[in-house]
Parts: sequence; C-alpha cells; structure tokens
Amino acid sequence: MNSEIVRLTSTDTDLIIRCHPFAEILYWGPKLVRFSPEDVASLQRPVANGKLDVDLPLTFAMEYGRGQFGSPGIEGHSDGYHAAPVFTTTKVDIKPGAVTVTSEDELAALQLISELRLDAQTGVLQIRHTLKNLHHRPWQLHRLAVTLPVPEHAVEAMAFHGRWLREFQPHRVRLEHGGFIQESRRGRSSHEYFPAFVVGDAGFSEQRGAVWGVHLGWSGNHRLRADVKTDGRRVVQAEALYLPGEISLGEGESCSTPWVYAAFSQAGLNGMSQAYHAFLRQSLIRFSAKQTRPVHLNTWEGIYFDHDPAYIMQMASKAAEIGVERFIIDDGWFRGRNHDQAGLGDWYLDEQKYPEGLMPIIEHVKSLGMSFGIWVEPEMINPDSDLFRLHPDWVLQLPGYQQPTGRYQYVLDLNHPDVFDYLLARLSWLLSEHPVEYIKWDMNRELVQPGHQGKLAADAQTHQFYRLLDELNRRFPHVEIESCASGGGRIDYGVLERTQRFWVSDNNDALERQAIQRGMSYFFPPEVMGQHIGHRRCHATQRQHSIGFRGLTALFGHMGIELDPVQSDEEELHGYRHYIQLHKTLRPLLHGGTTWRVDMPDDTIQVSGVVSQDQTCAVFMMAQLQMLNYSLAGKVRFPGLLPEAQYEVSLLDSPEIKTVREGGGTMRELPSWLRQPMVVSGDWLMQAGLALPVLAPESALLIGLKQV
Ligand code: GLA
Repeated sequence: MNSEIVRLTSTDTDLIIRCHPFAEILYWGPKLVRFSPEDVASLQRPVANGKLDVDLPLTFAMEYGRGQFGSPGIEGHSDGYHAAPVFTTTKVDIKPGAVTVTSEDELAALQLISELRLDAQTGVLQIRHTLKNLHHRPWQLHRLAVTLPVPEHAVEAMAFHGRWLREFQPHRVRLEHGGFIQESRRGRSSHEYFPAFVVGDAGFSEQRGAVWGVHLGWSGNHRLRADVKTDGRRVVQAEALYLPGEISLGEGESCSTPWVYAAFSQAGLNGMSQAYHAFLRQSLIRFSAKQTRPVHLNTWEGIYFDHDPAYIMQMASKAAEIGVERFIIDDGWFRGRNHDQAGLGDWYLDEQKYPEGLMPIIEHVKSLGMSFGIWVEPEMINPDSDLFRLHPDWVLQLPGYQQPTGRYQYVLDLNHPDVFDYLLARLSWLLSEHPVEYIKWDMNRELVQPGHQGKLAADAQTHQFYRLLDELNRRFPHVEIESCASGGGRIDYGVLERTQRFWVSDNNDALERQAIQRGMSYFFPPEVMGQHIGHRRCHATQRQHSIGFRGLTALFGHMGIELDPVQSDEEELHGYRHYIQLHKTLRPLLHGGTTWRVDMPDDTIQVSGVVSQDQTCAVFMMAQLQMLNYSLAGKVRFPGLLPEAQYEVSLLDSPEIKTVREGGGTMRELPSWLRQPMVVSGDWLMQAGLALPVLAPESALLIGLKQV
C-alpha cells in the first residue's frame, strides 16, 4: 500500500488519509466502489485572495503554528517556549484496518502518535492521539484534541443537554459560522452534556440523511466543539478538558486523548446507532459468562434507608414470585447510613440493622434462584463519618478553601495511595466475604476544586477511578458493575469498557423515560440500559401512569422493578409478573436484534422497535406521548424488514386499547388488523404501512411481526 495515501475501509464506510508530509483526513464517508490514490488530486484547493499565500490542510494536530486560526488540536508551552509546534510525519505503520502515524516537531522536541482503527464490519472509527515530550524541560499541556473534518454539507448538529431526572435530551444547532461548544467541568460525563455530537445533512432524521456521529469515551471533564471555518470547511473536535496546571509532561512523559468513537451513516441516525450498537456488542461490552440480562429488583424506591433484614427477605420472596432474577440492596446497609447525611466512607456493615450479617439475606435470595447485588458509592465521604473524623485530609480539595458539599458529601482523593488502598480493601472485603455478583456503583456529586497535593487533579481522579474498576474487575471477574451517578451522570464508552449496565435516570416516570431512553439509544444498545418499572405514582414527578404504560416503557432495556412488591396490590403484582414474563419471552430478540427508531409525521407518537438479525421477526412499540395532533394516528411504515417476505402482524400487548363501546374515549372502531389476524408483505409494511389505532395520551402498545 502507498504509505502516503492510506485507505481504511469497512462494509459501508471509507476513510482516506494522506500521511506525508503531515497527516490529514481527506475523506470520511460512504464506501467507494472504486478508488485509486491519484483520485485525491481532485481535492486540491485554490488559494483564496486576501489570506495566507499557502493552502492550509486540516491536519491531525490542527496546528496554530501552521497558520490555522481556528481551534488548535494542541495547545501548551514550555515556560512560554515551544508554544506553536508544527508536526511532520516521521513514520507510518499500516496494519489491516489500522494506521499509526508518528510525527514530530524537532525544534520543540515533541512527538505525536496518532492511532486510527476502522472496524471492518461496523465502520466505527476509533481515533486517539498521544503527545510525548522529548525535551528535558517540562511541557505544560493545555489542550490535546481529536479533530475530524466533515464535509461542507454537514450543516446541522444534534447535541444532548440534560440535568438530574432529565438526561439525554437532543437539541439541534445550525452550523453556519463560527463554533458550537459543549463542556463539562463536573468531573464526570455529566447529565448536562453527554459527550457526543452528530452532524449531518440539513434536516437529517432517524431514517434520512448523511450523518457523522462523534463520541468521546471518557468519564471526566470534556469539551466538544463543531466549527465552521471562515473558508466554509467544517470540523468536529473532541477532547478531555484539562484544568489549569493539570498536565505537565516531563522528559519522556506522554499524555493520550481518550478514544474517540466516530460513525458515519448514509441512512440517517438509525444507521449510525446500529453501527455503534454492533461495535459495542462485538468489541466493548463484556457480560460475565455471556448470561442473559437478569431482571432486577432494586430496593431504593421501595424502602430507601429503612432496612430491616426480615422485611427485605419478604421483599425478596415476593420478587422471586413475580419473576425477578437479581435482587439488589441499595443505599442504607453500611454503618451510620440512616439518611443521606452520614456514613459514606464507612464501608462496614451496619450491625445494628444487620445483627446477623448479610449472609442470611444473601442465602435467602440465592435459595429463591436469584443472584444478589449491592449498592456502593466508593468515591465519596460524608463529613459525618468515622473515615472523615480519622482522615479529613483524604478529601479531594485545595487546602485552605471551604468547598461546598453536594448531597452532604465530599469526594475522596483517589490519587492518595492510602485512599486508593483503603477503598480497594473495603470493596474486596465486600466482594470476597459475600457471594455478591453485582454492584451498583454510584457517584452522587460533582467535583469542585478537585485538588491533590495543592494542584488540580480532576483528570487524574478519573484515571484512578478507572484503575480502581480495572483492579476490581481483575480480582472479581464474575462481578458485574452498574455505572450510576444520580441516574445518568456517568454514561460513556470509557466506563462501559469496565461495567455492564447504566442506571439511565433516577426518573422512573414512564413519559419522561420515553424521551430519556430514546436519547440514550442513539449511542447505546438496549441491554445496557437499566429500565425499571416504578411506582404507580412516580416519586420524581408525582405523575401517575398505568402499569401498562410503565411496563411497556421498561420492556426493551435491561429490565427491573424499583419499588416494594410487598406493598403492591394484586393488580399491580399481576402487571409486574406479566411484563417480566413478556420481557423474558422477547429478551433474546430485544437484546440481540437491530434497533430502529421510526420517523413519524406526528411527533406526539413515538415508534421504535427491534428487528431480529435475520429479519424474520420484529417487535415495535407505539407510545402515544400526548394528545394526537390529528384525529387519526396515521400509519407506521416499518423499517428493516425483508421486502419479499410475508409477515403475520399481531398485537403483542395492548393494555389500554378500548373502543368507545368498551369504555374508551378516543376510538369508535379499531383498525381491521386489530380485529382479525393479518398477513402482509414486508415491502407493503415498509412502503405503505399499517394503520395505527387512536390511543389515549400516555399509553402504549406492542406490535409483533413474524415471517410466515
Ligand atoms: C442515587 C442513585 C439512586 C439511589 C440513591 C441512593 O441518587 O441514582 O438510584 O441509588 O443514589 O442514595
């Protein structure tokens, strides 16, 4: 292969890179039927008048020193010197599906190693840079970003905003002039700005338009930006955000960006999501022993801090009766933890609450055929704890300042070796003395003045968090971990490499969950999304929903229930049992198939589904979010089917569908497919569609398609 022009290729995507004299991405888009390296000459740009006299490439490093006036890929200096480096390629290493480009600035004595991999099947591009200081004088690194050029027709961006109880809300921005930035300094991926952008053709949608997705696999501070240069070219940048003074590279030391995961699709957002989902399933997600995702019961909203072993055993018995497969004791089991103002840090069993220890409960849970899990929040410390009284200096802080608490707690300094060892020892006690198969790992506050030995250390804190998870995974490979941070505050591919599940949100309101889960589905497959049936009256919103709407809303993900089944009435218990059973029946399809979100002309209806890999069966959910815009719901045109196949269309679950005669308020006559079984061609279902019933707001139904 020509080492100047390198082509990385997959089933649907091509990436063309020029490596000499500097590295730049020339093309990232649909797979080319024919390509020869000479073709790239067609891209040679003119030089505009009134500007620098040379053409400026969008290099990997986006050097300011080259005359790039936009956001550079590298910023830093050595006491003011070597502050505008320019990199020249010194080595290109090509392997199947991967290229590593080494480049150097000899004057600044800096080396940049850029690794790119394009997954042959899914087309997901992984890219990261490593900057190494070869000089005896330290180099202070301010920024190190991965920059990806996108074509001029990428004129619109979709990003995500959110907050506690309201994660993954997409919003759109026009990319016309200047930049669009999202940053998190909260010390985690954050509820506020999930670290990802999608850019694409004007008006790109679920099923239409070219889109380029970019995600930073990092659980700490981050910055993402999309920029339109004054010459009209566009780039997307993703980086770990460094606080002042955080990164100083001594001689021979280096710093790497987190991996950036990028995916291109010609067929709208579905194509992008499907590439990411397939990539994660194949390369990143590691379930212990390849088991199916067990249905959970989590005690939090059922009993909060009110722990009584006899009662918890009653809950476990009821849970097993309705089909639960894993029972998790949430917050409240350790010393002094009677409310959220004390106890964090004291990872010893509360012997007043549990005089016999945890074992009788665990044995009871196991005797019922369920596995056992438990909640921890290792990175935190309450001022009201023995640990704090003994080691006030273990807090991640800048001495001399008084930082605010968050949920009455501070953060522990994981860079302090004694802190790290203490947490590892206490977690190892928990996991080796008890047959625990699952931990829910929480993180309920943000980092403020995150100081270690007087310097800011948020980035190092995230690295230590990963190291702690890595060491626990090494010691206890059978234990699965859920990443939770007040719900969805720490969701990204960096932590997913080390965990198996996300607690998507503390909001179990089914209507809110429809939006949150859809937002998360752009980047994550259903089997890692913790989705629980909550109380009839949701604790977060006080809204009431039927068991039907709650059950269907939790159905597709890693399902669970979040309430006290002992207090539930027969109707509710019947509902939990029904939806757990339905989930178990559909689980192999839901957790192994291809996810589709359907473009609906009426946005009060949300339709999404999963089609099996062989396209012979599918299940789609129609959720009526609000009052319909029109008096009819129109048709759904199902994507992803085999055009030539015949499908039997059936109603798998319709908890609330009622005609006026039956006491409903929205529909006099049902559509005919709801009155008699129907077999229709795949092509017809994809092109013409299926007439939807008129549902009441905040209700849902499930449609099954099966090839006959
Ligand atoms: C956080 C989590 C909840 C629960 C509580 C316990 O808020 O998101 O699910 O575990 O902590 O304190």
